[in-house]
Amino acid sequence: MKLAIIGTGYVGLVSGACFSEFGHEVICVDNNGDKIAALCQGQIPIYEPGLTELVVKNVTGGRLRFTTNLAEAVPRAEAVFIAVGTPSSRRGDGYADLSYIYSAARDIAPHISGYTVVVDKSTVPVGTARQVARVIREVNPAAEFDVASNPEFLREGAAINDFMRPDRVVVGVDNDRAAAVLRGIYSPLYLIETPVVITTPETAELIKYAANAFLAVKISYINEMATICEAVGADGIALAKGIGLDGRIGKKFLHPGPGYGGSCFPKDTLALLRTVQEYGVSARIVEAAVEVNAAQKARMVKKIRDALGGSETGKTIGVLGLTFKPETDDMRDAPALTILPALIEKGARIVAHDPQGMREAAKYLPEGVEFVDNPYAVCAGADALVLMTEWNQYRALDLGRIKSGMRNSVFIDLRNVYAPEQVRSAGFSYFGVGRG
Ligand code: UDX
Repeated sequence: MKLAIIGTGYVGLVSGACFSEFGHEVICVDNNGDKIAALCQGQIPIYEPGLTELVVKNVTGGRLRFTTNLAEAVPRAEAVFIAVGTPSSRRGDGYADLSYIYSAARDIAPHISGYTVVVDKSTVPVGTARQVARVIREVNPAAEFDVASNPEFLREGAAINDFMRPDRVVVGVDNDRAAAVLRGIYSPLYLIETPVVITTPETAELIKYAANAFLAVKISYINEMATICEAVGADGIALAKGIGLDGRIGKKFLHPGPGYGGSCFPKDTLALLRTVQEYGVSARIVEAAVEVNAAQKARMVKKIRDALGGSETGKTIGVLGLTFKPETDDMRDAPALTILPALIEKGARIVAHDPQGMREAAKYLPEGVEFVDNPYAVCAGADALVLMTEWNQYRALDLGRIKSGMRNSVFIDLRNVYAPEQVRSAGFSYFGVGRG
């Protein structure tokens, strides 16, 4: 099938590359000429494992193209996916900023030719599909089109696999004609028996928020249990296993840590709370998850301070990992962006390493943070080592080598990567999350 994707950010680029891998003919459009020029040269602006190879393969195969010109992409497309950004609004009130969505809708409208399904792929609040339809109709009353909602559930760092082997595909449509187009697009997934949930646009829009909010609740729940474990001297890892093996609970997303970050959970929980407020109902469990997450980050600052003997002033802290999770260079809402400034404010010196995120991190962290190019260099003269993000390359460090460079042997493992006994027997004081 012939598809157009508007927006070559994270979601647009991954979707475009994967749809072309399905065998569709895809044209990705972006109004940023520099970005398109770079993409045409095979330069991918984000770090996502496997993405460069997939883009290059499908460009070479003639199934994937990039352009700034909507007139080249939209008229021939059976479906046009809107995958532009929906950042939190600049007002800082938690609302998603939909201006890019509506301007994409306005720009697409005059180029629609023949029956076309316009698909919202970006995460958008309930009611947006109807608004997009209204905008298109205003600009081009003659256009023959439907608007569908088809939210993505991609994890950064695992996005290609999530797209090619999803747990489910959610499609929100008003009629069978639009449903048939979406079914056609996802037909390669029928071979692996992917369930497709076909529902209304409003339900599909809400499914995305409800899924992310549930996962945020699950993480905040286990983080709160971890705090209780530390207080009573219980083992949070065994607790997560003990509850997670109950099939009704499930063992995924039960890892205690420094709190969730990233481009989705923090933004989508707040946007859901705004929607709920607008409609005069409540989502107190989601509200609590947001509060618990903020408290968890603050608690990590205290944990580091306590491990340093009650004060971080004048201490050197080595930090391993800065991104909100491994296999990405994304720093959006990373716990490091809250935890490190709080330590610096109290007079700590920070020396940090991240395999992919240092360039991004330097934009958002206070001046004075020192970046080094290998994990062992963060330990030189450090009073404590904080493992902030669980990159694979931090999972089997030479503890003897680390200790020999440090001033004080304090290991704060905010991702519970190491077995406490192993670290203690190497001569460190060890502090995890939810365990001693
Ligand atoms: C998430 C959703 O998984 C995805 O379906 C949605 O479309 C976008 O948001 P992503 O933000 O890429 O994806 O990352 P994810 O792997 O879900 O992790 C989010 C945050 O939760 C990270 O900061 C991670 O470290 C944290 N987390 C996750 C925990 O602290 N504990 C866990 O058990 C799981």
